[in-house]
Amino acid sequence: MRILGIETSCDETAAAIVGGDGTIFANIVHSQIDDHTPFAGVVPEIAARAHIEKLDGVISKALDDAGCTLADMDAIAATAGPGLIGGVIVGFTTAKALALATGKPLIAVNHLEAHALTVRMTGDVAFPYLLLLVSGGHCQILLVQGVGQYRRLGATIDDAVGEAFDKTAKLLQLGFPGGPAVEHRARDGDPDRFALPRPMMGRPELDFSFSGLKTAVRQTAQKLGDEITYQNISDLCAGFQTAIADVLSDRISRAIRTCRAESSEPITTFVLAGGVAANRFLRDRLQATATEADLPFTAPPPALCTDNGAMVAWAGVERFRLGMLDDLRAAPRARWPLDGNAPALPFAGAKS
Ligand code: KG4
Ligand code: ZN
Repeated sequence: MRILGIETSCDETAAAIVGGDGTIFANIVHSQIDDHTPFAGVVPEIAARAHIEKLDGVISKALDDAGCTLADMDAIAATAGPGLIGGVIVGFTTAKALALATGKPLIAVNHLEAHALTVRMTGDVAFPYLLLLVSGGHCQILLVQGVGQYRRLGATIDDAVGEAFDKTAKLLQLGFPGGPAVEHRARDGDPDRFALPRPMMGRPELDFSFSGLKTAVRQTAQKLGDEITYQNISDLCAGFQTAIADVLSDRISRAIRTCRAESSEPITTFVLAGGVAANRFLRDRLQATATEADLPFTAPPPALCTDNGAMVAWAGVERFRLGMLDDLRAAPRARWPLDGNAPALPFAGAKS
């Protein structure tokens, strides 16, 4: 089996070809970082235009790298949401055109499902599993019961984790994207130097809140005034990252207990996914949390945590196997929750 996967929901223009056993034959990611750096954040209109410019070339390169043509594909999969709608329209309409022209089946992939299932491409993870999905637009705890079967156990009530990293980096003038920059500087910092809050820690519900932490970082930085030295910034980054780790660890320990108490079928694994899962420090802390609870831990390799086409192609593989195909009437969606029964998340960082 060979599935083409197309990803354009944020600021990566990406295409990949993946086989039924998870072999990645090609995985091309064109990052738009340079286009957005002057604005210290992703500008939706610039993103959509850049996808238009780059996508054809990225798909051709993926086919060349894999030594295939479109005729060799079993299906065309593309992110159909959630995400920045201009970019989603570019990728999904391209997929529809390719499907129509070649007569191949079309698969509309939920970007969050692509993150959620990546570990089944890179390893052997059986359903049901507990998932912490942390990215630039999302922060959710989900019970993954099967392909297309999700139960949301908790979510952020304000900012997403990646968003908090990006805003902290912007405040400290560390550049864009912020996550890797903050992680890097935190290595030189003392996490105990500044007392920062751990919002929601110890609360019984499985939700998150990061806006108070972000405000505390801003106030601490303002108090330092002209004292924004290399060491002060590093200490703030270390304090911020450790506060995030403490909160995530607390929420996940509680979620594991909840699943064990409530779920009829035992969870097999704790999975960390989404762009923020590329963070080594958070991976290590959450691995330790799972180990303490005697639960196996896994996360995709860092390059497959941030947005890429292989995860979309793999979601296509999983859906294709189950006959979950779409037709040309399928529409791109800015919002598309994995758990349709969970209440809508109204806040900026809770885009599903
Ligand atoms: O999954 P992703 O590529 O795009 C979305 O679906 O949102 O996630 C991007 C987010 C950004 O906020 C970025 O700063 C964050 O993931 N990120 C990180 C790291 N690498 C990427 N956050 C913390 N540490 C990192 N190493
Ligand atoms: Zn993503």
